[in-house]
Formats: sequence, structure tokens, C-alpha cells
Amino acid sequence: MTTATTDHMETRLGNLDLRSPLIAACGTVGSVVDFAAVTDLAIYGAAVAKSVSGTPWPGRQPPRVAATGTGMLNGIGIQNPGVDAWVEEMGPGLEPLPVPVWGSAVGRDADEYARVAEHLSSTAVAAVEVNLSCPNLENGRMFALDAGAAAAVVRAVRAATTLPIGAKLTPNSEDIVVVAAAVAEAGADWVVLGNTVWGAGFDIETRRPLLSGVVGGYSGAPIKPIALRCVWEVSRALPGLPIVGIGGAGSGADVVEFLLAGASAVGIGTAHFASPRIGTRIIAQLHRYMSKHGVRSLDELIGAVEPW
Ligand SMILES: Cc1cc2nc3c(=O)[nH]c(=O)nc-3n(C[C@H](O)[C@H](O)[C@H](O)COP(=O)(O)O)c2cc1C
Repeated sequence: MTTATTDHMETRLGNLDLRSPLIAACGTVGSVVDFAAVTDLAIYGAAVAKSVSGTPWPGRQPPRVAATGTGMLNGIGIQNPGVDAWVEEMGPGLEPLPVPVWGSAVGRDADEYARVAEHLSSTAVAAVEVNLSCPNLENGRMFALDAGAAAAVVRAVRAATTLPIGAKLTPNSEDIVVVAAAVAEAGADWVVLGNTVWGAGFDIETRRPLLSGVVGGYSGAPIKPIALRCVWEVSRALPGLPIVGIGGAGSGADVVEFLLAGASAVGIGTAHFASPRIGTRIIAQLHRYMSKHGVRSLDELIGAVEPW
């Protein structure tokens, strides 16, 4: 079907060209290799493999995911086998995939992030996403909440790899513009805005929390306005900094909204759980929007919000 092609869907993040604005979001497409079996990866500009740390992390006890009626909660605790095992097990499978894969680095201090980035760079990954929604070993606070700590991580990763770097921030920040400016200064090629929003839920029959860790990450359609606000604020304040917008996108219309707010690419996350092939539908919807409105390239949409 012609409407599922990526013709006229090109975009770029700094020096990195993407054939499509859709990014398969970290943690929602497994190692990407498994996701290839259930969807057409060729319609994505990139797919982000699950975050990986320097040593294996066991993750939290179940229950770790919960439906909340609208959106979902997760408190997985970034379970992963550690970067050495990841490189050995996943590395060889990346090259044949019909999509550029980005690695996602986490760590408890800047050195661990740097080590992960260095090892990821020994594989075919096309970029490193620095997931700053990870507790800092020093004070237990998420790196992304603290501009100085986030910048120190990005600086260490910058020194450890020549690949392009995206810094993934959190909508829970008090002032996301300050953090975005700090990570850009430290060497991030783009920012990813954002991650899940803190949330909780309780079962009224058992009176237990929905997640073993009580507080977890809330994602899906209801967080879209929060993510759009983050994108809009950063794109207005830091016009040269490329942005990947993420949070609640599940349709072509949602993608257009993120582009208008100032994103150059848009992550699709929770929507994959309801429909792993949703990316193909989103691309078809984008084509229809572009032809209806006489839009020939995404550049005409990026940051093109009209004032009142
Ligand atoms: C089950 C689950 C696991 C996730 N794991 C990660 C992760 O390992 N690293 C990361 O940077 N983001 C992770 N995320 C966050 C998503 O990449 C995305 O930023 C967030 O869910 C908001 O987008 P969405 O509303 O489209 O899902 C995860 C999200 C979900 C739902």
C-alpha cells in the first residue's frame, strides 16, 4: 500500500538523517530484534532497544505493570542483563534489521553511563540515548531532575563515544528548559522529551498498590499534553536544539501535534502494547494529513504553530 511508505517523511536530528519521524520508544519494543517479528520496522526512523546498565540489574518484584483504565503504570526497575551480555547476545542481531537501532544507556554514576555507551558503540547501534531517568548513586535522585548531574553524565558519555547522543529527560522536572540547556551544552546532539510521569494506583478490593514499588511511571494517551508542553517550552527557549517528542502519541494527528510544538521526530511507546503494528497506521494517517493540507515535507510542520 503506497500510504505506508516513508516517501516525504524524511527528517533530521542534528547531523543524523531519519527516513521517518517515528521512533519506536525505549522499553516498548524489547531488544528490537523480537519486535521485528511482529511489525514492519522499515516505517520507523529508528528503534530504541531497552535501556542497559554496566552490570546486570534484577528489576523490581511483580507486579511491575498495571493498566489504569486510561494509560498504564510501570515500575520495572530497568531490569537488564548488563552491557557485556547485551553486546554479546543482541549485538550480532542488530545489523540485519531494516531499521537503525539506538542503544539506551543507564547507570548509577557518570562512569557507568560512559562504560555502557562505549560498549554499545562496539555494536551496530546508530546512536546512544542517555536515559537520565535513573537514580543517582550519590543521592538517590533522578539525574534528569538536576541540571548539573545530568550534564555530568552527558559529558562523560560524550567523551566515551563518537556516535550521536540523545539525552532523555523527564517531564517531572521543575524546569525542563534548564536541564535541556545543560545537557546540550555538555554535548547532547538532541533531547528526548520525555519519559513517563510519576504515578500510582490502588486496588480497592485488595487495598494493595497496583505496583510493588507503589510509585511508577505513568504513560500513554493521557500524558500527551504534558509531553507537548515540554516540547513546546524547550523548542521556544532553545530553538537550535533538535527534539524527539514522546508521550501518549498513537495517531498521525498526535504526531502532527508534536511536530507543530517543535519536535523533529516522535516516539511511539505505550500505543505499541495495544497494537504492535500501529506505526504503519500512523504513517498512513500522516500521509493523508499531508495530502489534505498540501504539506510536501515535515519541515513545513516542525515548530509551525500559529499564534492566536
Ligand atoms: C513498560 C515500559 C518500559 C519502559 N522502559 C523504558 C526504558 O527502559 N528506558 C527508557 O528510557 N524509557 C522507558 N520507557 C519510557 C518510554 O520509552 C516512553 O518515554 C514513555 O512510555 C512515554 O511515552 P508513551 O506514552 O508513548 O509510552 C518505558 C515505558 C514503558 C511503558
